[in-house]
Amino acid sequence: MTTESSIPLKKLLLQVRKSFFAIQKDGQLSFVIKDTDFFKDSPEKDTALQIKAYVPSIGPENLGDARFMARHGLKYPYIAGAMANGIASAAMVKTMAEHGMIGFFGAGGLSIEKIEEAIIDLKTSLPTKPFGFNLIHSLNDPAHEMATVNLYLKHGIRQICAAAFLRMTPALVYYRIKGLYEDNNGNIVAPNTIIGKVSRVEIARQFFSPPPEKLVRSLLESHMITETEAGLSQYIPMAQDLTAEADSGGHTDNRPALTLLPTMISLKNEFMNTYHYKEPLCVGLAGGIATPESAAAAFGMGAAYILTGSINQSCVEAGICEDVKRLLCQADQADVAMAPAADMFEIGARVQVLKRGTLFPVRAEKLYRLFQTCNRFDEIDEKSRQEIQEKFLQASFEDAWASTKQFFLRTGNQKEIEKAETDPRHKMALVFRSYLGLSSKWAIQGVPHRKMDYQIWCGPSIGAFNQWVRGSFLESHENRKTAEIALNLLFGACVCTRASILRTQGIAMEMDDGSFNPLPVKEILSYL
Ligand SMILES: Cc1cc2nc3c(=O)[nH]c(=O)nc-3n(C[C@H](O)[C@H](O)[C@H](O)COP(=O)(O)O)c2cc1C
Repeated sequence: MTTESSIPLKKLLLQVRKSFFAIQKDGQLSFVIKDTDFFKDSPEKDTALQIKAYVPSIGPENLGDARFMARHGLKYPYIAGAMANGIASAAMVKTMAEHGMIGFFGAGGLSIEKIEEAIIDLKTSLPTKPFGFNLIHSLNDPAHEMATVNLYLKHGIRQICAAAFLRMTPALVYYRIKGLYEDNNGNIVAPNTIIGKVSRVEIARQFFSPPPEKLVRSLLESHMITETEAGLSQYIPMAQDLTAEADSGGHTDNRPALTLLPTMISLKNEFMNTYHYKEPLCVGLAGGIATPESAAAAFGMGAAYILTGSINQSCVEAGICEDVKRLLCQADQADVAMAPAADMFEIGARVQVLKRGTLFPVRAEKLYRLFQTCNRFDEIDEKSRQEIQEKFLQASFEDAWASTKQFFLRTGNQKEIEKAETDPRHKMALVFRSYLGLSSKWAIQGVPHRKMDYQIWCGPSIGAFNQWVRGSFLESHENRKTAEIALNLLFGACVCTRASILRTQGIAMEMDDGSFNPLPVKEILSYL
């Protein structure tokens, strides 16, 4: 007879594929694995055995929505989110695919040539495994957004993650509609899938709605789509999957996950009831997920999948310099701040960044305040002008404008230059934006004399993660691997969920029993 009652609860919770009972026998609580012959053959079966609780087997694939995983060819419901400028690198995307998950290449901020390089690399390395690319809304450069979409269509990129959209744009709608057809069974097939990322309900509504008719008409009139594609488009949502993004690294509205996710899930239900889409809509959660407990909470609240960003930036595969990874490993939860965003500077958009070890948030804030109160650089008080030129720009304003102009010439954005030549406030904004843009590049490349200007996008999740892994092999950035961390979070979420099921049935646990400490990927796989 195998009672397994000698296995300590903590160890039993790790054996996530085994369901077990908590049994009260002769006043003693013990734990018995379900598939043993304890119940069948026990000579004690007639004695007073009392089942106090049952804990089911829970594998990582049980946590999320199976339909989401099937749609994207995933084994596990986990996304490594896009991080601009290739910080979410091809190496990161590859390792995620190789471990049954998906990563989105950080195409934002990169030239079309650089994005194409990554596409070719990933298509060659992952001929059959899932991977995706980011499409970030370019408020100031719709031509770049369209060029990116054309590139994705040319190379048959079937999964994109769309972020920072304020409304549906021609490029996004074009991507979604192109290639739509009806199969022999009358099902509409949409080859191009969009995972939208939102923190606002009004934008979520647009993603869950069919493509706006006005934009569809205009694409049709420009012969970019066919009559069939236009007609079919009205039966599918812009995005089948939507990531609710709570307080996160990078662009964020700092929404609390506990309020945002239920709202988005009820919105999903509302749209399913209204449109009766054939394929189900799914909602995932991003923002603040960095520990087994937060991953378990996301799934417990109904997330179809989880998505992480900040923690992956400290990993070996991240396309950012070692110094930044070291800084990230030292960060606590309170070491982040909101700062003006380079891409939507003029409209006051903000990004969450690291404030420990860099002056970037303070400097960027100063530039934004001056932009709000001054109409031209000369209007700025003498002391601030001096500080900006000597410390921030490390060049005279005119020299900084000359290099900014060069940048816009190189990227073919003549319009911005023309506007700046006649509008001194716009010129000032472009120079300030160029400082903001360069500060991310310095952080990526690791330019030691610009260390104090590093702009490092990151959310409080990095602090929670550092706290969790303190003292473990994951404490040092040299050991942080994106897929290994992802598997730790998923596996840890299984353990935490099992512990919480036990707790809710009235089983008191030792303080440490329900927690989970990081394990090497090999060991995790041995349990799966
Ligand atoms: C360094 C960094 C860069 C990011 N860049 C992008 C981006 O270009 N496009 C995008 O959709 N999301 C971007 N994000 C957001 C992440 O994809 C993800 O949604 C977010 O980080 C999740 O929250 P977390 O930081 O709490 O994990 C970025 C996040 C970080 C930390």
